[in-house]
Order: sequence, then structure tokens, then C-alpha cells
Amino acid sequence: MHRTHARLRALAALVPPGIPTADIGTDHALLPVLLLRENRVPRVIGVDRLVGPLARARATVQAEGFAQDPRLELRQGDGLDPLLPGEVGTLVIAGMGGERILSILDRGAERLAGVQTLVLHPDSHLPQARSGLASRGWVFQEEQLLIEHGRAFFLMRLVRGEAQALDPVECLVGPLLLRRAEPTLGDWLEVQEARLSEIRRRGGVAEELELVREAQRRFALQVPRRMMSHPTGNLG
Ligand SMILES: C[S@@+](CC[C@H](N)C(=O)[O-])C[C@H]1O[C@@H](n2cnc3c(N)ncnc32)[C@H](O)[C@@H]1O
Repeated sequence: MHRTHARLRALAALVPPGIPTADIGTDHALLPVLLLRENRVPRVIGVDRLVGPLARARATVQAEGFAQDPRLELRQGDGLDPLLPGEVGTLVIAGMGGERILSILDRGAERLAGVQTLVLHPDSHLPQARSGLASRGWVFQEEQLLIEHGRAFFLMRLVRGEAQALDPVECLVGPLLLRRAEPTLGDWLEVQEARLSEIRRRGGVAEELELVREAQRRFALQVPRRMMSHPTGNLG
């Protein structure tokens, strides 16, 4: 399928199989189409609040041969408004700021009742998103950091559980990525450290620099543990 880049494939792979799913802010509807192509979910609803994106979504669905497929529906509306309570078990919300994602979840509390899993790609305000999700009782089950064409994409799957407080380093980098000392996270931290150091060297404000360095220290402590759990050296 055209334009299906690594980020969308990785998002699709985080979606639990066999469960009706909604893609909020679907835009071009590439993710719903991908989920059905892979037979990953029995039913998918693409939601967007704007006419333009929904027109793009319809064009994709038509071009990819899913226009008459009862498993795929497109609906216009804000956040979770177009969903019925209990209609889906998984929500995907990708390519939006973290604060917007939290506000969609808060505004749609009634419709969240049957939702067991969130698959998210916040593209800004990540610390706020992680902290807000954890304090609302969403538990990180899986995290991935993809670096594509020099851009970092933090993807996450969360399930219902106990509300918890993440510390500032966990909020900055993601609790599982840190614990697992994911190599891409090490690369990302190095880039952030260099960028913020340069800002400070030029006399600018780089408030996050200490936090990034603390994350690097904690990351380094986890590396030996990761090596021990992958003794063959296959750390991929
Ligand atoms: C940048 S696109 C991301 C598209 C796709 N999810 C992806 O990850 O590639 C964001 C889309 O979210 C939609 N959107 C933003 N806020 C929304 C809301 N509250 N409810 C539904 N859709 C929303 C926008 O109209 C836009 O089409």
C-alpha cells in the first residue's frame, strides 16, 4: 500500500488483534485500511472532526477497495462523540499533541467505558501526556521509539490499571523504554544532550538539559541488565 511508512505499520502492530477498534483523527484513513488488510481487527471506525480529512479518508477507502466493506466505517465528529459506549475495545489516537489526546479522553469519559486499550502516538507535549495517562489509571504495556528520516516517533500501548505517578525522567522518555534501555532511546538522548548543550553554550535557556543527563545516567545503569537478558549480543 502506498504511503504506509514505518510509523503506521508500527502503530498497527501495537493494536490488539481481534478487537473492534476506532482510529480517532484518522485523516487519510491509512491505519484503518492497514488494520483490515492485515485482518488484524474484525471492525474499524475511522473518526475525524473535519470535512477535508474525511474526504481524504473516503478517497483512500475507495482506492483501496474497502468502500463496500461493512467492517470499515468513517464518521465525522469531535473526539469520541461519534462512538457509542461499548462499540470498540481499542482506541488509536495518533499524530496529535499530548494535551489534545488527554482532552479527547476526558471529554469522552462515558464512551471510554468499554475501551480496554489505548494505542497512542502523541507528537508533542509527551511528558504531559505520559504523566496524565498514568495518573488517570492507564498503565504502559508497550512503548516503541522509531527514528524515521531524523524524526522521533514515540508510540505507546496502554491498558487499564492502577493510577500511578511517574517521575520526571520517566515522563520525559517513557517508563518502559528507560527500563529496557532501548538502543534508539540512547541515540535520542545523545542527540537531545548535544542540542541542549549547544543552546546553553550560546547562552540560551535549556531547562531540560539536567533531566536529559539524569535520563542518560539511568539509561547507562540499565544497559548491563539488558546485556544479561540478551547474552548472545542480539540486542535488537
Ligand atoms: C496530523 S493528522 C494525523 C492523522 C493520523 N492519525 C496519523 O497519525 O497519521 C491529525 C488529524 O486529527 C484530526 N483531529 C484533531 N482533533 C480531533 C478531534 N478532537 N476529533 C477528531 N479528529 C481530530 C485532524 O482533523 C487531523 O485530520
